[in-house]
Amino acid sequence: MESAQQNDENTVGNHLSSEPEQPLSKNAQKKLLKQQRFEAKKAEKKAMIKEHKKREAERKKREWEEKLGSLGSEEERQRLIESRKELRKERMEKRSQEKEKKLERLNNAKLNGQKIVIDLEFGYLMNSTELHSLVQQIMYCYAVNVRCASPAHLWLTGCEGEIKSQLQRLPGYEKWLIDKESRPYVEVFQDQKEDLVYLTADSDSVLDELDPKKIYIIGGMVDRNRWKGITLNKAKEQGIQTAKLPIGSYLKMSSSQVLTVNQVIEILLKYLETRDWKASFFEVIPQRKRCEAESEDQDHNVEEQANGEKDDLEIKKQCIET
Ligand SMILES: C[S@@+](CC[C@H](N)C(=O)[O-])C[C@H]1O[C@@H](n2cnc3c(N)ncnc32)[C@H](O)[C@@H]1O
Repeated sequence: MESAQQNDENTVGNHLSSEPEQPLSKNAQKKLLKQQRFEAKKAEKKAMIKEHKKREAERKKREWEEKLGSLGSEEERQRLIESRKELRKERMEKRSQEKEKKLERLNNAKLNGQKIVIDLEFGYLMNSTELHSLVQQIMYCYAVNVRCASPAHLWLTGCEGEIKSQLQRLPGYEKWLIDKESRPYVEVFQDQKEDLVYLTADSDSVLDELDPKKIYIIGGMVDRNRWKGITLNKAKEQGIQTAKLPIGSYLKMSSSQVLTVNQVIEILLKYLETRDWKASFFEVIPQRKRCEAESEDQDHNVEEQANGEKDDLEIKKQCIET
């Protein structure tokens, strides 16, 4: 909707200006159309959810009133009202206890958790759709980490420019219990350079296990591997160790072994919990990316979610809550 409006405004502006209109290239037209379709679909989905919520609230209200009305005496009605209040109070207390525990876990992770860095220095290589996807992936990573029994100590480094602006637009982002740094990781961890390990599918070294002393870096990129080898080369130039996930030892992939940021983080978190690479891969890597036929499939590719395949409301809720 927004894009359509912006487009209309641009068109009006063009009519008023004395300069001749610059026709959009075929590629730009395609992109614009895609963006407009995406926005329209998003708005439609939002309206549907709003309508559904409204109907649910009305239904519940009706049910409650019917229930109250079916009771014979005022005393019974009062008892029912009181028990509902009590139930609500218990639920709220339980929620606030859970929230406290979550905060405690995240604060502990800041002190003792496995350090995992998302390197956001590649923003300039991505278009706005890719940046948007990356933001969704980061949001997803945060939500998964929050839910973890043993969360990691997450860092965003090189967090500047457009990516920072997009992240700041996420509701609740300011309160995220995560380290946000505008400086690059080489500066942030300049005294621990020997502990930095850049994770990259292009590395020759295979990650055997996670070392609590090490700081694992993940390239904050959504590039459909257009920039193949970019993280490996960066790490090499900086004299930083590299490693790839041991996917090949446990799985045959139908396509490349390059995973999305959120998939890598989810695998690391699963591994921290289970110390079992195979289980972690099977839980996170979508079946269509694997050769073997598996029954369990948990596809958490947020790029697809952004395209409307999955509902990201729950993720957003998690991110706002903490
Ligand atoms: C979408 S990939 C970016 C690919 C990019 N062209 C590159 O050269 O890294 C996002 C990040 O996830 C991590 N990653 C993806 N697959 C991996 C694998 N099989 N092993 C280790 N890290 C991986 C890397 O840190 C990578 O930069």
